[in-house]
Amino acid sequence: MPTLAANTEFEIRPAAAADLDAVIHLDTQITAMPKVEYWHGIFERFGRRETDGFFLVATSGEGVLGFVVGEIRAWEFGSDPCGWIFAIEVSPDLRMNKVGTALYAALCANFRKAGVSRIRTMLARDAQLVMQFFRSQGMMAGPFIQLEKELDE
Ligand SMILES: CC(C)(COP(=O)(O)OP(=O)(O)OC[C@H]1O[C@@H](n2cnc3c(N)ncnc32)[C@H](O)[C@@H]1OP(=O)(O)O)[C@@H](O)C(=O)NCCC(=O)NCCS
Repeated sequence: MPTLAANTEFEIRPAAAADLDAVIHLDTQITAMPKVEYWHGIFERFGRRETDGFFLVATSGEGVLGFVVGEIRAWEFGSDPCGWIFAIEVSPDLRMNKVGTALYAALCANFRKAGVSRIRTMLARDAQLVMQFFRSQGMMAGPFIQLEKELDE
């Protein structure tokens, strides 16, 4: 089990229904956008299928320290099956203790077990911290570009 600088041990395990309030609290703290229904929906889609292990939490005696969520998607946009990481968040008080790295590694291991050999994610251009984190894990620019347009009223 990895150890935090403050000697707090933590483990990575599949998210449980009882973790949802803490996940929502942490996400609200980080994004300033409460999304209660969204997170309940994510848990229904990914948390209930514990065998997948694509919605993971890092926990210690102090509760939920962070979480990661991903999914395997196939064939959209002409893409081979790959694992998408679409959220990773660690409590601001506990960062730089490799909690994010442990969450990322556990999700990647579960993607591997499920048979995919490539992962992808997407982030805002100005999200420098998240970029630093993913770059530290060896992730690089991929072959796709994103296009968008405001729809007319
Ligand atoms: C990105 C995040 C998950 C990283 O979690 P963490 O537990 O602090 O990450 P780790 O301790 O495992 O750091 C791993 C590496 O990431 C990089 N990194 C992490 N935080 C960094 C920082 N503040 N500055 C520069 N590099 C950083 C470093 O390379 C670090 O390796 P090192 O410790 O050997 O230097 C966390 O900062 C976070 O939750 N940020 C907000 C995420 C967010 O906004 N999510 C919303 C959209 S999904």
